[in-house]
Amino acid sequence: MIAEVVITGTGLYVPPYGISNDELVQSFNTYVDTYNNEHKLAISNGEKAALEYSSVNFIEKASGILNRYVVDKKGILDPKRMRPYIQARCDDEPSLQCEMACQAIHQALDYAQKTPQEVDGIIVSCVNMQRAYPGMAMEIQNVLGIQGFGYDMNVACSSTTFALANAYAAIVANQNKCIVVVNPEITSGHVNFRDRDSHFIFGDICTATVIENAQLAKSSGFEILSSKLTTRFSNNIRNNSGFLNHAEIEDEKSIPRFCFTQNGRKVFKEVVPMVEEHILMHLQSLGLKCDDISRYWLHQANINMNELIMKKILGHNPTPQEAPIILQEYANTASCGSLVAFHLHHQDLKPGNLGLICSFGAGYSIGSIVIKKR
Ligand code: COA
Repeated sequence: MIAEVVITGTGLYVPPYGISNDELVQSFNTYVDTYNNEHKLAISNGEKAALEYSSVNFIEKASGILNRYVVDKKGILDPKRMRPYIQARCDDEPSLQCEMACQAIHQALDYAQKTPQEVDGIIVSCVNMQRAYPGMAMEIQNVLGIQGFGYDMNVACSSTTFALANAYAAIVANQNKCIVVVNPEITSGHVNFRDRDSHFIFGDICTATVIENAQLAKSSGFEILSSKLTTRFSNNIRNNSGFLNHAEIEDEKSIPRFCFTQNGRKVFKEVVPMVEEHILMHLQSLGLKCDDISRYWLHQANINMNELIMKKILGHNPTPQEAPIILQEYANTASCGSLVAFHLHHQDLKPGNLGLICSFGAGYSIGSIVIKKR
């Protein structure tokens, strides 16, 4: 028998340190001055190219981002370091991702009026895991006292929707009663803060979602009507970090290879039509039209990209009610973006209203979930 599945709670953990564009650009430009000064001779005789300044104006116009939150600010803004300070911990201490996850999960469980003992599965899904194994999910499961199973998965910026789809599938088939999906994104660990094209894009955050069998739900929440997943291989967003690095790496200069890189223009051009087609096909498969959806909670990549996707779907510029944007304050939070938008902007919806959560990112990967307010 097929079960009715509902999202009954979401939670958000925001790290304590905000970085404004001004602060980020100041640090970057100090680094540029130092680099250009140190390589003055090589630059003047054409052996090396001079680095160019970053600009607050460009960042705001190109991305819509004004601020981001991070787990450490000092190391990122130090022009001599430009990467976060994250203290290594002993194996018997909770990891940083585990700590972030537990805070977001507690909030989501409170919303859902559930205890960890009522949960029978946990999926940790995000762009980067802090370690290879044991799974982050088992550690969090152990700290919170959750029964059943836990596993980790990664589908880049679509990690959250793909994990929600997995949880939905398990509950709809009556394999599980209540699953927590959690997305601890420490994006500052994969950003090359010396790269002018991408140093401003990301922010750290963690979201959590409680998905359960409607018969056991204590809060009304949103019924999940359907999920749809699409992937297509592309090298335009890539991170070569992996377990073979220690065998491959020869020198410090290779380190940028192990950070996030992208060909932003190509991503923009290729992903916009893919997302448009994906959403239209998903709605069509349910016999729905675009304006049957009261709210679109999209992956928060870039203001221009988000607006263009919505314009293509709706035929007009989206209002904040139709497609809320959270980039200004939080930046691109990888797989959390659409969930942050959902968490902060769903309370005004009325019973029967439909909504669509959609993520997109490296892979390429696109995931969407259609939900109905109960
Ligand atoms: N400060 C000042 N100028 C900058 C700059 C910075 N930090 N970074 C780039 N520029 C300059 C470039 O040198 C270029 O100058 P030119 O015109 O003289 O050659 C100009 O700004 C435009 O650069 P471009 O890279 O073409 O910018 P863009 O308008 O395409 O915006 C992105 C860049 C990354 C914001 C945009 O391509 C994007 O959002 N793509 C999609 C990314 C995405 O969603 N990825 C998914 C990740 S999960």
